[in-house]
Parts: sequence; structure tokens; C-alpha cells
Amino acid sequence: MQRKSTKAKEKKQKRLEERAAMDAVFAKVEAANKLGDPLEAFPVFKKYDRNGLNISIECKRVSSLDPATVEWAYELTKANMQALYEQSEWGWKDREKKEEMTDDRAWYLIAREEGSTTVAFSHFRFDVECGDEVLYCYEVQLETRVRRKGLGKFLLQILQLIANSTQMKKVMLTVFKHNQGAYQFFREALQFDIDETSPSVSGCCSDDSSYEILSRRTKYGEVQHSHAGSHCGGCCH
Ligand SMILES: CC(C)(COP(=O)(O)OP(=O)(O)OC[C@H]1O[C@@H](n2cnc3c(N)ncnc32)[C@H](O)[C@@H]1OP(=O)(O)O)[C@@H](O)C(=O)NCCC(=O)NCCS
Repeated sequence: MQRKSTKAKEKKQKRLEERAAMDAVFAKVEAANKLGDPLEAFPVFKKYDRNGLNISIECKRVSSLDPATVEWAYELTKANMQALYEQSEWGWKDREKKEEMTDDRAWYLIAREEGSTTVAFSHFRFDVECGDEVLYCYEVQLETRVRRKGLGKFLLQILQLIANSTQMKKVMLTVFKHNQGAYQFFREALQFDIDETSPSVSGCCSDDSSYEILSRRTKYGEVQHSHAGSHCGGCCH
């Protein structure tokens, strides 16, 4: 009897600790989402003046963007990505993409040339993935004429900076294997790892899935975490 009740107590204690840890994870995401401007403390990152570009960058929630900017972001995504989606098991669905891009939780980095013309953006969210607080990059999209000038790398550096300053554990994203330029950009130039939840690692989806989930840890993303080796089932959504 004695042993059983000690075990039960230990179990309860463990449950309480796990719940407190999850509460702390959600509290970090909530705090990040309450920020007015996550880039406020980093004015140096609001400008990109290199390789012939003169770009200003702002960070806003989707609810603070004007409708014309949201429409431009959607049209650019469609122009860049529709064919790639259609080559995948997902297909392209206008309505779903629009809903995703205008979801209340969406944050945007918007890059403007000479202070007005929009040329690039990133849609990202603070979220919980498999028990970890993460910054999930949903999109990074550049107009063709501003590519290969270091701007994409700069936007990802900003995301890493925001993830660090909000104490997220990693920056995550999904990339099609057949989007070869982007795949090389993330894996080789930016040194993203294949995330442990990616289908090719976790084995949770079929081996021939057309995408990988990539991630880069922040200073808060310790290598061994409590979910290592556990199956979260989160990679197929
Ligand atoms: C992928 C993308 C964001 C990269 O941004 P970018 O500003 O053009 O890239 P950068 O200039 O910062 O590139 C940094 C390095 O990444 C690598 N890289 C970038 N684009 C590459 C490409 N198309 N092919 C091979 N390597 C590439 C190179 O090593 C490059 O350095 P270099 O130009 O000195 O050789 C941009 O090309 C884009 O918007 N593409 C269309 C949309 C898209 O596919 N988005 C990703 C969805 S997951």
C-alpha cells in the first residue's frame, strides 16, 4: 500500500510539473503576441541598404496592415508558389491560402523599396509545435527583381533575432524539396537543420512526402528537451 501511494504521489507531482511547464510555454507565446512591434529594440534591422537596394522593413500584425498590402502579399505568394504547390500532394487552394495569410495570429515583415513600393515579405507566427514555443515562418516571398541581393537572408536573420528576443526555442518552416533554390537557401546558405518532426525523420508520414520541416535553434532551444524521441504527430497538418 505504502509503495503504491508513493508512486501515485510521484505521478501526480510529475503531471503538475508537466502542466506548469506547458503553461510557461503558452505564456511565452502569449507575451510575444502582445508586443506592439517586435523590431522596436532593433532599429538597425529596419533598413537594408546593400547591393543597390534601399529597403525599409516594418513588423506588424496582419490586422494592422492595409488591405492593399495584404492583397499584394497574396498575389506575390500565388505567383511564386502556385506551380510548386500543384506539384505536391497539397495542391493549390486560393481560399485556404487567403485564410491562412489573414488569420488573426499572422505577423508580417514587410519590405518596401524607397519607403513605398512593397518588394518582399515574411508571414510568421509565434506558436507551440510539439510542446515547444517556436517562431514559425509561414512564408518568405521576394519579387524576382530583388532576389540574390541578400535580402532573403536578412529577413531570416530578423526572424531569428525576434525568436531570440521573445525566448522562442527555434525558427521553423516548411519547404518543398522540389523548390530547389529555396531548399539550398535554407539548408546550405542559412544552415537550417531538418527538424525532428519532419516526415523524413519522424516517419510519421509517407517517406515520399514532397516537403521537409526545417528549423534553427535559438539560444533558448536546448538540444535535449523533454519531448525528444516522443511522437507528437504534428508534422502532417
Ligand atoms: C528563396 C528566397 C527567399 C531567397 O531570398 P534571396 O534574397 O533571393 O536570397 P539571398 O540573396 O539572401 O541568398 C543568400 C544565399 O542563399 C543561396 N541561394 C539563394 N537563392 C538561391 C537559389 N535560387 N538557388 C541556389 N542558392 C540560392 C545562395 O547561397 C545565396 O548566396 P549568393 O547569392 O551569394 O550565392 C527568394 O529567392 C524567393 O523569394 N523565392 C521565391 C519564393 C520562395 O520560394 N520562397 C521560399 C518558400 S519556402
